[in-house]
Amino acid sequence: MVNSIYQDCLIADDKALSVKRYLSAVAFNNITRIAFGKRFVNDERKIDPQGVEFKEVIGQGMRLGASLKLSEHIPFLRWLYPLQEEEFAKHGARRDSLTKTIMQEHAIARERSGASKQHFVDALLSLQQQYSLSETTVIGLLWDMITAGMDTTAISAEWAMAELIRNPRVQKKAQEEIDRVIGQDRVVSETDFHDLPYLQCVAKEALRLHPPTPLMLPHKASEDVKIGGYDIPRGTTVHVNVYAIARDPSIWKDPLTFRPERFLEEDIDIKGHDYRLLPFGAGRRVCPGAQLGLNMVELMLARLLHHFSWAPPPGVDPHEIDMTERPGVVTFMAKPLEALATPRLPENLYQNIKFIPE
Ligand code: HEM
Repeated sequence: MVNSIYQDCLIADDKALSVKRYLSAVAFNNITRIAFGKRFVNDERKIDPQGVEFKEVIGQGMRLGASLKLSEHIPFLRWLYPLQEEEFAKHGARRDSLTKTIMQEHAIARERSGASKQHFVDALLSLQQQYSLSETTVIGLLWDMITAGMDTTAISAEWAMAELIRNPRVQKKAQEEIDRVIGQDRVVSETDFHDLPYLQCVAKEALRLHPPTPLMLPHKASEDVKIGGYDIPRGTTVHVNVYAIARDPSIWKDPLTFRPERFLEEDIDIKGHDYRLLPFGAGRRVCPGAQLGLNMVELMLARLLHHFSWAPPPGVDPHEIDMTERPGVVTFMAKPLEALATPRLPENLYQNIKFIPE
């Protein structure tokens, strides 16, 4: 990411960059490496044929998911708005075929070496017999992780960068902390996080104001319950508006102001224990990738802030950055963030950190 941005800055130093393009590539590479131990995009930003197929399957899944119609919930409307059953079936078959190929590659590698590599796919395959996991379940679990982990992290980092550009005071303060702790001779890594409390607060504040799934994921009441005086019958689909809770003026002081310091003043949990702040949900369905997601967002922000200074495109005032949300289950910026990056470290720190295949 850092190297790509640097190269693009060298080509045109006054050209605004589309920030999400870089963040999405990082999220894609990280999730595919964790799930499959594979990086489909090389250092020259070339994607291999399996990666192309992978991206198409993800894109198609998103398009189909977003097109789920009213008729899914109201069956008598199906004659008017038919469900795309055929497209869903075709998509499922294409996704399964790609995943089975990758699973076979892992099985062959395991047979050859006699040892299992510790990627998520290997962990699932090694537990398959013990827990009677069918192939369909393994494929489903893998794709749960891919679809739930990829956009959420890139979107969270994009919103955070938009806030940092709108609030130069916060950007400067975060950079001062990173400079003080890391200096100018090396790059930030995850092990530095405990020395970067302000950076952690920036990530938390961004997730408070811009949870990527503002209504969490739909839940279904498994029994009749009473909540806040309301009767919720068994079987009801329940959405929890964590976006509204995190902006509620009766809970938060100046709720619409981006002020990471609020988390230095009060240590508020973000992973499901404090109901004022639930970007990862809570309870049994809480996001299983919460810590990973937080680490990824913090690392992206740390690297972007350490290596570059960020400003709006020429002629745009920081407060004119369009913060409109695109409605949906996952809340993207309606107008993807464009920003000017200015390198701020010695040249040798912009080289690619080489991927060492395991
Ligand atoms: C900043 C990043 C992330 C945010 C804000 C986020 C948020 C959420 C939320 C709100 C839920 C639903 C919780 C509920 O309904 O109670 C969820 C579920 C889930 N998340 Fe995350 N997530 C993030 C990153 C990740 C990552 C990196 C992974 C894995 C690689 C992941 C995997 C999952 C899975 C597997 C589920 C469960 C889906 C299901 O129940 O069907 N998430 N996430």
